[in-house]
Amino acid sequence: MLVTSALPYVNGPMHMGHLVEYLQSDIWVRFQKLRGHKCTYVCASDSHGTPIMLKARELGITAEQLTGEISAQFVRDFLDFSIHFDNYHTTHSVENEELVTGIYNRLRDAGDIYTKTIEQSYDVKEGMFLPDRFVRGTCPRCKSEDQPGDACEVCGTTNTPESLINPLSVLSGTTPVKRESEHYFFRLSAYEERLRQWMSAATLDKHVIAKLDEWFEAGLQDWDISRDAPYFGFRIPDTDDKYFYVWLDAPVGYLASFKHLCDRRDDLNFDEYWKADSNAEVYHFIGKDIMYFHTLFWPAVLQGAGFRTPTSVYAHGFLTVNGQKMSKSRGTFIKARTYLDNLNPEFLRYYYAAKLGHTIEDIDLNLEDFVARVNSDLVGKLINIASRCAGFITKQFDGQLAASLPDPALFAEFTDASEIIADHYERREFSKAMRLVMSLADKANRYIDDQKPWIMAKNADSAGDVQAVCTQGLNMFRTLMIYLAPVLPVVAEGARAFLNEKVWQWQDASQPLLSAGVEPFKPLLTRVEPEQVQRLIAQSEESTPVAATESEDDIISIDDFMKIDLRIARIETAEAVEGADKLLALTLDVGDSSRKVFAGIKAAYDPDSLVGRHVIVVANLAPRRMKFGVSEGMVLAAGPGGSDIFLLSADQGAKPGMRVK
Ligand code: MSP
Ligand code: ZN
Repeated sequence: MLVTSALPYVNGPMHMGHLVEYLQSDIWVRFQKLRGHKCTYVCASDSHGTPIMLKARELGITAEQLTGEISAQFVRDFLDFSIHFDNYHTTHSVENEELVTGIYNRLRDAGDIYTKTIEQSYDVKEGMFLPDRFVRGTCPRCKSEDQPGDACEVCGTTNTPESLINPLSVLSGTTPVKRESEHYFFRLSAYEERLRQWMSAATLDKHVIAKLDEWFEAGLQDWDISRDAPYFGFRIPDTDDKYFYVWLDAPVGYLASFKHLCDRRDDLNFDEYWKADSNAEVYHFIGKDIMYFHTLFWPAVLQGAGFRTPTSVYAHGFLTVNGQKMSKSRGTFIKARTYLDNLNPEFLRYYYAAKLGHTIEDIDLNLEDFVARVNSDLVGKLINIASRCAGFITKQFDGQLAASLPDPALFAEFTDASEIIADHYERREFSKAMRLVMSLADKANRYIDDQKPWIMAKNADSAGDVQAVCTQGLNMFRTLMIYLAPVLPVVAEGARAFLNEKVWQWQDASQPLLSAGVEPFKPLLTRVEPEQVQRLIAQSEESTPVAATESEDDIISIDDFMKIDLRIARIETAEAVEGADKLLALTLDVGDSSRKVFAGIKAAYDPDSLVGRHVIVVANLAPRRMKFGVSEGMVLAAGPGGSDIFLLSADQGAKPGMRVK
């Protein structure tokens, strides 16, 4: 098996959201290895593209330096979280350049590449074409200002830099011009049949299939795979100034990282894994945001270039913290390193495992729940089994376990769960596996409560039974620790060392450890204190001051709010606008003056029905020039748009011009 995690971009630090991806796949890989499968796990830094080029420029270093530095940080983060790749490489590598060029040549020879001249936004001052996100302006639909040129963050409409009102380049602040350029396209539209075949052959989850069906339904568009210089990436053969778009060479980075490993390992053969009729299995773990790239572009490119396609693509949901999107001002935009400075990584591994299923549903890191869960499950239930038994064995029996179990039927309940738990892991139902393990831990603790070895030990007649009971206890602990080894590698390592065993395989969980000598027991985990989490939040607030342009915040201060002058307005006249599908022109009485406002409410209201109505208007909005005239304010309404728009109304008693409080 070959397993991959999505390749992280090197333009920012690793954070708790990324860790969902890397911990999920690391746990799955560790499970496969524990089961005795030959499983290779690779990843790499995604080093190309405009944002990375610009980030390096901003820092005054080369893109290569940026990649090197951030990759080194990632490697340390991965190591400290026990995320163990068999190889970690970069997409800016010789292997990747060779592979992507070879793939491109094969696609071109097969007739799947063509060129077409397109018009794009160009920043004259900076001398470069602008990716859609680097143009911002007012959303044509909801009129929200400062929206990116791909999708409006307020109303969700798909925009283009050209469709924005008053578009500006985020690089220079100047108005972009339109400029023509020749681009290279991959004929994705020719792959529908082959992709449908792949979809039915691959072992995809049903929500992934549902997405694919949606995309097939909408029709597959050819894919623009080139970008103009300046660009950080690989140059397209036979061109001077065209580069492969980062998303073409990024997944090829999976192959390149694997190739780089194969070149150093005699037991791995690249072609064995990637030839069209390979018997190996290939799994990609990804977040739900990058499904289109992995379930359409990627399998099509592989097919076109004569490689095998993935056995499956496993997508997970997004992380929220305390029920909300991670936020810098709330201190919930937590970097991997800040977590490591404050808390044991095994805790997060367990917490995510306890939350993860096989769907693309989002998962929530609730920090209060995190503390409670870790303390009660790991410390209170799991480790407690061992700490209640180990001392007696060490002190009274010279570290020797008994020769048999006093309650083999109870032990059998633990070993009988083996295949069910394995099946949960296999299907990425980690939360189910964790629940089952913890219910067995409860059973083990009840057994010890019932037997009360601490009372037996005081009574000469039953002193011998203490060894048997504690051997039973430690064996239940051992079996559960083997089941949890993929999730808690460091704790499992400590438990294995305590039990004096060299290696663990999954099937070892089914055989008790008897007549063996154990080492003195050291606490394997200590409780989390709520203060540790408070410190984590405080440090996350400090380490990332909110910059106006990059804030992911949906929070405004009271001062921001007070700036908005909301007034009661009476609609004096309302009429359709010649040539505009959605607009009504309104004249508003705002007390001391009258205003003209264009509102996108035509589909929802008959103009005549509006006259005389009292609505709420943003009175101090800067006037905006629109195609049909100047709009001097904005009328507030609710709803998704189209005919589902509902004007916010005020009581007729409210006089035009009154301030809304
Ligand atoms: N570079 C691309 C992937 C290329 S794969 C050929 C990319 N990089 S990323 O750094 O933005 O994200 C890396 C992985 O982390 C992706 O799988 C992404 O879905 C995941 N996550 C990033 N933020 C996340 C959350 N907040 N929550 C869960 N996963 C998230 O995409
Ligand atoms: Zn919008």
